[in-house]
Amino acid sequence: MAKIIIQDKIKKFNKTIRVDGDKSLSIRSLLIGSQSYGLCKIKNLSKSGDILSTINGLKKLGIKIVFKKEICYLYGKGLNGFNYRKNILINAGNSGTFARLLLGLLIKTPHEIKLVGDTSLSKRDFQRIIDPLKEFGANFKSQNKKNLPLKILGTEFLKPINYFEKKGSAQCKSSVILAALNTPGKTLVKAKKSRNHTELFLKYLNIPIKIKTKKKYDMIEINGENQFKSFNYEIPGDISSCAFFIVLTLLAKDSKLTIKDVNVNPSRIGFIKIINKMGAKVKIINKRDVYGEKLADIYVNSQKNFKSINCPIEFNSNAIDEFLIIFLLASKASGISRFRKLEELNKKESPRLKLASKILEKIGVKVKLGSGSIKIFGNPKLKVNKKIFINNYYKDHRIFMTSVIAALCLGGKWTINDMESYSSSFPSFLNILQKIGYKFK
Ligand code: S3P
Repeated sequence: MAKIIIQDKIKKFNKTIRVDGDKSLSIRSLLIGSQSYGLCKIKNLSKSGDILSTINGLKKLGIKIVFKKEICYLYGKGLNGFNYRKNILINAGNSGTFARLLLGLLIKTPHEIKLVGDTSLSKRDFQRIIDPLKEFGANFKSQNKKNLPLKILGTEFLKPINYFEKKGSAQCKSSVILAALNTPGKTLVKAKKSRNHTELFLKYLNIPIKIKTKKKYDMIEINGENQFKSFNYEIPGDISSCAFFIVLTLLAKDSKLTIKDVNVNPSRIGFIKIINKMGAKVKIINKRDVYGEKLADIYVNSQKNFKSINCPIEFNSNAIDEFLIIFLLASKASGISRFRKLEELNKKESPRLKLASKILEKIGVKVKLGSGSIKIFGNPKLKVNKKIFINNYYKDHRIFMTSVIAALCLGGKWTINDMESYSSSFPSFLNILQKIGYKFK
């Protein structure tokens, strides 16, 4: 249980960086690749813990994956091509995305497959995925019908479903879409807006999928059991990882940062929209279309004044992984910021809304916490002059990284436990901090 101690603020910097490959797209490229026929070549795959869990899980299902010169080669075996041996045990580690999306691909397994995860993942809700997958015809066994460990037993007699996704969860939507790939007939999904990487990926591969975009919902139609060929793909930088460095730069002194080759899919940039409404002037430049997704470079420089925000709820799903770092910026803004309808935030790797309010109070920020809402009383003069200990946070990678950024911007002497946590999503985090000039003791 390593810990990090930070007692110096970040010094002025002017740098160009790249962040690790996008986690959502890394997981999707491996899972969708496993269903294709032939050799996939995937560049810039994230090396995070969640992706290692995905690779190990797919290998247990008979998918060959090798790395040569940093490039990932995956030998796809076609739809329902997994090697379903008896007594397969898959450990999804910390990754809710891998665990939930994989279940969608296992609905034909003739033998029970056991899925387990780490302590944090074992507390998370799987009912949301069990319910629709049961409708396709799959069977589940779990102690309380809700959490890992669970066992899935598939069926040959799958039937397509009509599914209404109401939470704005891309994981639920994607799990059903992946299940539909292996199911004969037409599956219809009406989904509250959330990141749309799965749909765009399948469309890019010319798999029969129709997407109609409405104001609040997307209508998705998938025609199952259509085999498709392997592909080459290059994973762009992860906007969720960029978020930490964007806020660091905004709150640092006289600094500038360019981040190259970032995925700026409109369903992922809620964070930039929110902070720009707060007065940040983050620029998305050099936009281009690649592999059915949008790529760009991001430019940001330090600023002194930020406004509070009454955060529009339509941004919630598009910024769901960035709220911790947004709350940090809100703490330095003038006025009271309000965030609502964020119940989902308490269902992540940790109860993030509750823990965020505790940490903010620890550093002297006044907050008012509701069951799915938070008011943050911003203070542009906020500084920390005391010792801060961050522990017992379920090893949530985003709590670790937000705490490091807070320490580097606000001062004080911070001891942050469970340092290994950050590698589950962003293994280059500390290396990049060193590159922009921070010297860890
Ligand atoms: C993800 C979807 C989101 C997000 C997670 C990644 C994905 O979860 O929080 O980090 O890749 O589909 P939900 O679908 O549960 O909101």
